[in-house]
Amino acid sequence: MSLSSPRKPVILTGDRTTGPLHLGHYVGSLKSRVALQASHEQFLLLADTQALTDNADDPAKVQRNVLEVAFDYLAVGIGPDVTTICVQSALPALAELTMLYMNFVTVARLERNPTIKTEIIHRGFERDVPAGFLCYPVSQAADITGFKATLVPVGEDQAPLIEQTNEIVRRVNRQIGRDLLPEAVAMIPKVGRLPGIDGKAKMSKSLGNAIPLSASADDIRAAVRRMYTDPNHLRAADPGTVEGNVVFTYLDAFSDDFAGVADLKARYRRGGLGDTVVKRQLEDVLQALLAPIRERRARFAADPGFVLQKLRQGTAKARARTEETLGEVRDALGLFRFEEAAA
Ligand code: TRP
Repeated sequence: MSLSSPRKPVILTGDRTTGPLHLGHYVGSLKSRVALQASHEQFLLLADTQALTDNADDPAKVQRNVLEVAFDYLAVGIGPDVTTICVQSALPALAELTMLYMNFVTVARLERNPTIKTEIIHRGFERDVPAGFLCYPVSQAADITGFKATLVPVGEDQAPLIEQTNEIVRRVNRQIGRDLLPEAVAMIPKVGRLPGIDGKAKMSKSLGNAIPLSASADDIRAAVRRMYTDPNHLRAADPGTVEGNVVFTYLDAFSDDFAGVADLKARYRRGGLGDTVVKRQLEDVLQALLAPIRERRARFAADPGFVLQKLRQGTAKARARTEETLGEVRDALGLFRFEEAAA
């Protein structure tokens, strides 16, 4: 890059390291990250600190999955020399920014965050919400602003977190009297959230309805066979419903053959097309998508030393970047400085 060319816009996004990533992550965000990495300066955060906010009882799982998620990134085509992959817990500037931002958000506002509200219900926290969990949107604001990211590719469930980040950004900027921190835009895929293979609203490892990116050919076949279709479509000859039929939802999300899928839908609606035929089509599409990902993943998993080296380099670069932002925020907020006090 020549000196006069403008800096590329910055992307920051990440994943909690609680388990290997699945097809929902792929359509929700991984695919855009691969597409955007050349035109943007991209940072990917292995969010182990955030993962602890609802997994404090199992830190070993969180730690183990740092490398697993890194393998998934590399397997889908994230280039470790193009994209910077870093480990959240090794970036203390983010923790300090979180601490500072905590003063620019109210507890009531955190409790109103729609994502937090549903997650609290799902996790059964009720009145016993860990403070770290309630405050993770603040730490996510630190993640995003620590890199001065302006674009955040995430699934739609994360939109309220980006909104809350921008509120904190405006509040801090107002306090310091200038636009030090940029606001960020959430980039949400058009396909919407991928349902689980059981037809439930969300694909999730904990719901047991996910197809991991590392799934074997047999796992894929079994998952497609179990997949929720139209419960009233009992005989192939009967007309079937396409809406809410997971097999068609997945064909829409993963097949490039739009005309072929449209034709299948028409035949299914008319009657005379059995579930097994449609499922076979989907299985072919998923096998073709996941086979190269699985092979690349196996190669990286066989060479953890290489992956660790990339994480070490990425984390060092991320540390420099986030410390620079922290320094600016500390100065702007007027925190105590020995140099000044001594002068
Ligand atoms: N909240 C994200 C998840 O649940 C992970 C995450 C942490 C993140 N920090 C982020 C996403 C910053 C986008 C931007 O997986």
